[in-house]
Amino acid sequence: MSSQAAKLNEGIDLAGKNVAISGGTQGIGAATGIRFAQAGASVFVIGRNEELGNKVVEELKKAGKGGKAEFIKADLSLVSSVKTLADQLKQKTGGELHYLITTQGGPPNGTFSLTSEDHESHFAIQVLSRFGLAYLLAQSGTLKDTWVTICAPGGEKSAPPDLEDLELKNEEERQRYLPMRIIKAGTRDGAVMDGLVSQFSSAFPSLRAVHAFPGYVHTSAASNQSFPRPLVLLQSLFGPLLARTIGNTPTTYAEVPFYLAANPQARGKGLEYTNEKLKPLGAPSWTKDQPELRKKLWEKMAAMIQ
Ligand SMILES: NC(=O)c1ccc[n+]([C@@H]2O[C@H](COP(=O)([O-])OP(=O)(O)OC[C@H]3O[C@@H](n4cnc5c(N)ncnc54)[C@H](OP(=O)(O)O)[C@@H]3O)[C@@H](O)[C@H]2O)c1
Repeated sequence: MSSQAAKLNEGIDLAGKNVAISGGTQGIGAATGIRFAQAGASVFVIGRNEELGNKVVEELKKAGKGGKAEFIKADLSLVSSVKTLADQLKQKTGGELHYLITTQGGPPNGTFSLTSEDHESHFAIQVLSRFGLAYLLAQSGTLKDTWVTICAPGGEKSAPPDLEDLELKNEEERQRYLPMRIIKAGTRDGAVMDGLVSQFSSAFPSLRAVHAFPGYVHTSAASNQSFPRPLVLLQSLFGPLLARTIGNTPTTYAEVPFYLAANPQARGKGLEYTNEKLKPLGAPSWTKDQPELRKKLWEKMAAMIQ
């Protein structure tokens, strides 16, 4: 439970530590940034919306204990922006970024579009940009400790992703019934992230990667992802109740990424795949049984970032 994480996080001092929160202008990312600021960390908030980003920075300054607070504008649907951002973070942190929390994007809505760099748009934000930031920051030696990525993991019994069509670009996929496209894209997101998280510590043995599933957190994600109006309405009506009962508000959930990244007690507990109750979800069996597949996935993603 997040209240459990809140208790465990009491008194943790992060003065002198730097954290970057991509997708930090609202929702889970903004609340997580505030939690890090409260512990004295310097927080870099990343997103496209300047007005929201500056508002979050004001909140960070109010909540903070002397750490820096800065908004960096970036559209992470583009690999070129991911690369620029990785360079900016290296410079702004003096090459010392302790924690990277990636929350940009949202659930797939089943639409298909391509970025100007020819990547499928949802994949580019939800999967590629998260990997790209972690990969580039780790490779340059800027990332010093932990990458936490927040999106639904596939789970122990999940199937590996289809390496031949990671972006679900082929015509057959695009012709599927909308709910099927949403399910396929969501499953793919989780599976790819699982594979990358499992390979991360092999590629960078001194660093940690954690794939965190937030359960239900009441945010504007459904409307931000242009879900149909009745669904958005239902979520705005019942979401607050869900958040109070079985889920979380962004503020209560923020204790979880904070715990996973920065609380020494979270280490060595098998929490590389974890839910909002801090329950270890276990690595998908394919990541253990088929290490060559996970390596190929890594190489494919790395080639997209070069
Ligand atoms: N909320 C939940 O219950 C839940 C459940 C399962 C998984 N998740 C996952 O958790 C993550 C965070 O969810 P949330 O509810 O906090 O979502 P949210 O409130 O909609 O926030 C999404 C963030 O992503 C940023 N973003 C979107 N597109 C971007 C782009 N092209 N470039 C840079 N930043 C971009 C947005 O900033 P700008 O608009 O400023 O760019 C915003 O700060 C999502 O990936 C979601 O799929 C959430």
